[in-house]
Amino acid sequence: MIATVTLNPSLDKTVTVEGLVVDEANRWTSLRRDPGGKGINVSRVLHELGNETIAYGFIGGIDGQILEHLLGEQGVPYDFTSINGQIRSNFIITNLKTRRQTRIDAPGPHISRSELENLMDKITHIEPKPDFLVLAGSVPPGVPDDIYRQIIEETKKHGVKTVLDSDDEWLKEGIKAKPDVIKPNVHETEELLGEKLRDEAAIIQALKTLVGEGIEVVAISRGKDGLIVANGGEILKVIPPQVEISSTVGAGDSAVAGLVLKLSQGDGIEEACRLAVAAGTAATLTPGTELCRRQDVERLLPQVKVERL
Ligand SMILES: Nc1ncnc2c1ncn2[C@@H]1O[C@H](COP(=O)(O)OP(=O)(O)OP(=O)(O)O)[C@@H](O)[C@H]1O
Ligand SMILES: [Mg+2]
Repeated sequence: MIATVTLNPSLDKTVTVEGLVVDEANRWTSLRRDPGGKGINVSRVLHELGNETIAYGFIGGIDGQILEHLLGEQGVPYDFTSINGQIRSNFIITNLKTRRQTRIDAPGPHISRSELENLMDKITHIEPKPDFLVLAGSVPPGVPDDIYRQIIEETKKHGVKTVLDSDDEWLKEGIKAKPDVIKPNVHETEELLGEKLRDEAAIIQALKTLVGEGIEVVAISRGKDGLIVANGGEILKVIPPQVEISSTVGAGDSAVAGLVLKLSQGDGIEEACRLAVAAGTAATLTPGTELCRRQDVERLLPQVKVERL
């Protein structure tokens, strides 16, 4: 079983417009609400791919109730920790003319000390013990920047493996506890290491640096170029098939789900990366905030190419 943690869930609200004019009145043509937050997305993809999962995180307010309702409809199990505040809403404007998306993200509600303690207690005593705990996304106000480090250190004591997918200070602090797996994209890796990764050689060097810090699997995702991954001394380049893109929202979360699904089943890194890339690329086929569909993942899987470097 794979448990996920979303410290900063969101009820994503997406509108479509036939052309977006900034600073003018626009008219939307459709509105939808989706459960949002990276850990929750990973759980949604794991569920879609037929794997057992449960989503942990904070919940509060009317939007929080709607989020739980939507997860319930999709059959995704959750066990959230209540907060006094309201979860955030992220707004997404899909311009149907350009097929581009404009996002307006919120920082999230303030979390009190006792609310954080309640969540920490819950996720460090999950029964039965999950094979992996996925920690993903941003951290809301009131929660210390080194929270992922604290969670990973605590979880390790219970023999649970961890995946960390975050950015900025949260990633920088989190990797000090040596999570088992990380999947930053190129930009996040550049910020983490404080250097530009201009070519493949630079990415490989970055992988070696991060593996040298004691992280077992480091997968750097590169959008349409797939993934380059290091597992100990082994380095693989994983290339997706060319596809007609609808929206790349959720590609990274789908890739994390594919990766951890296979690793949790004890499969090798090559198979895990194949599924990661197939799931990530399948997510680009679906419109708006929709994640990957199982059928697409299965169809793309044999088309993913792997090279050993
Ligand atoms: N344009 C694309 N064409 C094909 N596959 C893609 C494309 N964009 C993303 N993918 C697939 O999704 C995976 C993850 O994408 P990406 O590197 O964009 O993640 P990310 O930046 O973490 O995304 P997110 O914003 O969702 O967190 C890639 O490794 C690839 O398999
Ligand atoms: Mg990402």
